[in-house]
Amino acid sequence: MIVLGIESTAHTIGVGIAADEEPYILANVMKTYVPKEGGIHPREAARHHAEWGPRLVKEALGRAGVRPEDLDGVAYSAGPGLGPCLRTGAVMARALAAFYGKPLVPVNHSLAHIEIARLWTGFERPVAIYVSGGSTMISAPAVRRYRVYGETLDIGLGNLLDTFAREVGIGPPFVKGGVHVVELCSEGAEEPADLPYAVQGVDLSFSGLLTAALKAWKREDRRKVCYGLWETAYDMVVEVGERALAHSGLREVVLVGGVAGSRRLQRKVELMAGERGSSFKPIPYDLARDNGAMIAWTGLLYLKHGVSVRPEEAFVRQRWRLDEVEVPWL
Ligand SMILES: [Fe+2]
Repeated sequence: MIVLGIESTAHTIGVGIAADEEPYILANVMKTYVPKEGGIHPREAARHHAEWGPRLVKEALGRAGVRPEDLDGVAYSAGPGLGPCLRTGAVMARALAAFYGKPLVPVNHSLAHIEIARLWTGFERPVAIYVSGGSTMISAPAVRRYRVYGETLDIGLGNLLDTFAREVGIGPPFVKGGVHVVELCSEGAEEPADLPYAVQGVDLSFSGLLTAALKAWKREDRRKVCYGLWETAYDMVVEVGERALAHSGLREVVLVGGVAGSRRLQRKVELMAGERGSSFKPIPYDLARDNGAMIAWTGLLYLKHGVSVRPEEAFVRQRWRLDEVEVPWL
């Protein structure tokens, strides 16, 4: 079975091709929209995706050595995400499915992040720490669905770091050589600045931390402030991950989303998992960030369980929570 997947929830348009036998991922190509200034403009991002999408489909098919006729289905990221971006991906997927007469599979974006991590790590039932610009969510498998243990009550971890960097003038670009500028800027600091740690039960709040860090920037050693910012934020995320492990009794952890590429965060998760006798394995950045391969792979799992929709039934949901999604293979 071979499935093509399209990802377009936010600033990345990605196309991946997955198969049900090794090497499983046949192609995974993507292109990211970078706004000239400020945050993401949904309609401009959607225009970017519409421009690059068809080229990426061609490129992915070429890399995989697959003709569209050979596909067993077309999957797309149906939410959660930005409306105009989601619709662009859905329209592409619907057109491909209708033209070639293939089943169409709407996939939940958060679920796809976790499923590609399960594939890569070989873990059966991992606690998932999902950290990206817009999302920060800690979940674990339950029966036929995932349970959300904790999540951010305001902004995502990536948004915290990017907003801080933009406000103090050390970005964009926010990531240089795979490392966030906030981490880079902390180099040489002997100790972190003392910033407010806000874990409320199992939920996280980053906006107070952002405000405090911006204030501290004006009066304290800047390296210490950057150190304090990432260290506090990463510790908060890891603490909720640890609670999810303790509550669920599970023994595996995965780290997914755009911020999962941080070696410092990976190291913290690894230490925490080790202390609890649990396993952690980092996954490659191109599978951790928003990408088409994760959508293709999750679409393939659904097709194996007989789940698909007709092209005219294609939908998108800007708010589609992970814990609302039926997962027949769990
Ligand atoms: Fe994502």
